[in-house]
Amino acid sequence: MRVLSGIQSSGKLHLGNYLGAMKQHIELQHEHECLFFIANYHSLTTVQDPALLRQLTVDVALDYLAMGLDPKKAWLFRQTDVPEVTELTWILSSVTGKGLMERATSYKDKTAKGITPSMGLFCYPILMAADILIYRSDLVPVGKDQVQHIEMTQDMAAYFNTTFKREVLKRPEVKLNEAMVVPGIDGQKMSKSYGNTIPLFDLPAQIRKLIMSIKTDSTPVEAPKNPETCNVFALYKLLANAEEVKELEGAYRKGGMGYGEAKKRLAEVTERLLAPARERRAKLENDPDYVEDVLVTAAKKARGIAREVMADVREACGLVVGKGS
Ligand code: TRP
Repeated sequence: MRVLSGIQSSGKLHLGNYLGAMKQHIELQHEHECLFFIANYHSLTTVQDPALLRQLTVDVALDYLAMGLDPKKAWLFRQTDVPEVTELTWILSSVTGKGLMERATSYKDKTAKGITPSMGLFCYPILMAADILIYRSDLVPVGKDQVQHIEMTQDMAAYFNTTFKREVLKRPEVKLNEAMVVPGIDGQKMSKSYGNTIPLFDLPAQIRKLIMSIKTDSTPVEAPKNPETCNVFALYKLLANAEEVKELEGAYRKGGMGYGEAKKRLAEVTERLLAPARERRAKLENDPDYVEDVLVTAAKKARGIAREVMADVREACGLVVGKGS
C-alpha cells in the first residue's frame, strides 16, 4: 500500500493539528510505504510573502521530524521538488469540467473568508489530484474537509482514463482521519482561526499557562464532576494512557478534586509528549543541512515515480512526438 498526504502549512502547528492529522501520519509510517510532502505550491494561493513561505515550508519539515516522523521509513519532501505535478495539473485541467471545480466547497469557504479568488485557488483541487495521481497512491489520509477533493481526484483519474482509453491513472481511496474533535482552550474546536490553540512548540511555561486557562464549569471542588462534558478531560483522554485516564475519571466522579488539579495532570502529560520533541526540534534547527538532505533524498525517490507515471501520461494523450528532450 502506498500512502500519500500533503501538508499545507498555515503557521504554527498546535495540539489540534497533531492529534487530528499528524499523529496518524506518523503512525502510518510503521505500516505502509508513506509519502508526505509539504504542499508549498498550494500555499502560494494564500501566502505571497517569499520569506514567510520559505519559513513555513521549513517549519513543516522541522515539526514533522521533531514529532517523530522517521525519514528512514517515510518520505518527506517538498512538493516543488517534483515540478512534474504542475504538468500533470495542466493535463488534468484539460479533461476536467469547470462544473466540477464550481462544486468545490473549499473554494467557496476560502473566498467567503476573504481570500483572493485567484485561478490558483479555483484550480486547487486539480493540483491536489495531480499530487495524488502522480505517485499512483493507494490511500490518502485526510480530514473530513478534504474528502471532497479526494472524490474529485477519483473522478479526474476516471476522466483521463476514459478519454484516452487507457488505465494509466490509479484511483485512490480515502483514509478518513478519525473525526475526533480536539477542543481548544475555550471549548470550541481547536483552530487557529478561533485563537484557542495550544501550540506544539511554545515554551513550557506558556503551554502550561494556556492549559491552566482552559474553560471549565463552576462545579465546586468537593462536588463530583462529569468528565464527559469537561474540556480538560477531553484533552487528557487524547494524551494520557488508559490507566491514567481511568484514574482521572474516578477522581472526577468521586468529587474532592478541583479542575486546577485536573489541569495540572493535563499539563504533565502534554509536557511528556512535547519535551522530547522540543529538544529534537532545537537540534534540527541547528542542522539545516541534515533537514535539507532528508527533503532532497526523498524528493529524488518520489520524482523517480513521478517521471515514470508522466511518461505513461504523455504517451497516452499523444503529447510525445519523437524522442523528446
Ligand atoms: N489540501 C490539503 C490540506 O489543505 C493539502 C494537500 C495538498 C493534500 N495536496 C494534497 C492532502 C494531496 C492530501 C493529498 O490539508
